[in-house]
Amino acid sequence: LASIEVNVAALEPGMSLTVKWRGKPVFIRNRTPKELEEANKVELAALKDPVARNANLPADAEASGVDRSAGAGKENWIVMIGSCTHLGCVPLGQSGDFGGWFCPCHGSHYDTAGRIRKGPAPQNLAIPTFAFASDTVIRIG
Ligand code: FES
Repeated sequence: LASIEVNVAALEPGMSLTVKWRGKPVFIRNRTPKELEEANKVELAALKDPVARNANLPADAEASGVDRSAGAGKENWIVMIGSCTHLGCVPLGQSGDFGGWFCPCHGSHYDTAGRIRKGPAPQNLAIPTFAFASDTVIRIG
């Protein structure tokens, strides 16, 4: 299937869901206000990869909190391909030094916006093409 629709109505803040899309895991997380605040207060200069890596935005968009999210008004939502940008292991959620995702294969730490902060991974977790089809349904692809 080229695209899938995921109902996220039951995902309260702090809850995540992993779905499969084109054979890859996709992480969907409804971030808590604290996670959002942590993501938004990070200076771009502190990032190893300052590029958003968001397929919904221009290739040179910066990895700001909002540009890593589902956009203004939906900033609590983050949708990312769950494949470590080092060698493709599946990172673990709510883990690592930055409270986001941690890849146990070789120790890459991603923050609450899925941006690489420490370890060998070269890039932020990729954001696939997606959009809210309604208030509670996300279409991926
Ligand atoms: Fe994730 Fe190597 S595959 S750190």
